[in-house]
Amino acid sequence: MATVAAPEPVDRLFLHCRELVTLADGPAAGARRGKALLELGIVPDGAVAVRDGRIVAVGATADLRRRFRAGEELDLSGFVVLPGFVDCHTHPVFTATREHEFHQRCSGADYMAIAAAGGGILSSMRAVRQATAGELAQAVRRHLDGFLVQGTTTIEAKSGYGLSTEAEVKSLRVLRDVSREHALTVSPTFLGAHEFPPEYRDDREGYVRLVVGEMLSRVKELCDSCDVFAEPKVFDRVQTVRILSAARSEGLRLRLHADEIEPMGGAELAVEMGADSADHLQRISEAGQERLAQSQTVAVFLPGTSFLLGKNVHPPARAMLERGCAVALATDFNPGTCFSQSMPAVITLACVNLKMGIAECIHAATLNAAASLHLDRDLGSLHPGKRADFVVLDLPSHEALGYAFAGNPVALTVKDGVPVVANIAEFEPDLAPATEPEDAPGA
Ligand code: NIG
Ligand code: FE
Repeated sequence: MATVAAPEPVDRLFLHCRELVTLADGPAAGARRGKALLELGIVPDGAVAVRDGRIVAVGATADLRRRFRAGEELDLSGFVVLPGFVDCHTHPVFTATREHEFHQRCSGADYMAIAAAGGGILSSMRAVRQATAGELAQAVRRHLDGFLVQGTTTIEAKSGYGLSTEAEVKSLRVLRDVSREHALTVSPTFLGAHEFPPEYRDDREGYVRLVVGEMLSRVKELCDSCDVFAEPKVFDRVQTVRILSAARSEGLRLRLHADEIEPMGGAELAVEMGADSADHLQRISEAGQERLAQSQTVAVFLPGTSFLLGKNVHPPARAMLERGCAVALATDFNPGTCFSQSMPAVITLACVNLKMGIAECIHAATLNAAASLHLDRDLGSLHPGKRADFVVLDLPSHEALGYAFAGNPVALTVKDGVPVVANIAEFEPDLAPATEPEDAPGA
């Protein structure tokens, strides 16, 4: 006589997702390219079973209901569920904002000219140097909260507004301490080579020596990766190679701001150095596109930055996708050129300006971004065994992502199986918000 197996106990069941976008039809790990970017693994009326913060199973609601018994159930009828966004390029360790520069640019001023006049990165540097660790931590915590609110569950986060050994160490320590207590997964990157600080203006070699010597030896325990702002007028090719080589021999992985403002073979250099990512790429050469396509280096597009800078210059994303490059999308969240933590906004800009398809965008904003951070075995898609990180969207279909713009489509952010942010009242009783409202009216 056939016996019916008793339902397996799990912590939580998320049921009746209108569309559950799993990305689980393909391999769990590895950045996807070409045609593989079109397979989203969508389950209609989908469900997720979660135990100990990990995905136990995904599938049809009727099926999971039979197989599992949960202490808690959440009905997601009418919502679209996606893997949590992975934002693989951010600069959240700053205090003051720079909105005046945005308006100066809108009236015609140039980004590099504002920087040369003492604004830009150096104005953020002065504020970070002056801030106590406690003040900096408060700002960083607020910035990290902002990612969760927009459905991002993992970020890469760069230092780079300290530009002295002391202030870079302070930045990375604050990042470590804040992220330990925060739901967001954070992969820290050392970006001491973001700009030359004023005390080294006339001794650029001296600053490069400081970065490859004292700074790297002090920060290496505090970060996963090292990045350089490679630009002909900032860190040139020779300086970039020295810094990346030194970082690599200290055991760090590499990322690169490449070919953003002026072309310099940045993409080729990123591949040569074995970097995990080459980012920006508005000025990438044909050779650079081909080298990237043949490599494991992920091309990271940051269309929010071009948008906020008012620049109508975009990387040749279509050509790169067609050549077979692995691509990711990220915000570049920073006080100068992109003051937004919204991956949905980045996806709108990627559709409109980079001509990317929605399935390509979804991969680029999740699994491929995770692959660029070596986190793809653990997150970035809804394969069983991965961390239960996902975002619940108040949208009629996954294709409405991109199309719906300038609102926040995120209803709920779930991190390690736990709802951590609810943006709509329907879910509020189910969870504790990540941040207490500061001045609730009438409270
Ligand atoms: O990635 N390009 C260099 N760094 C940032 C901008 C930093 C700033 O202006 O504060 C970027 O766009
Ligand atoms: Fe950047």
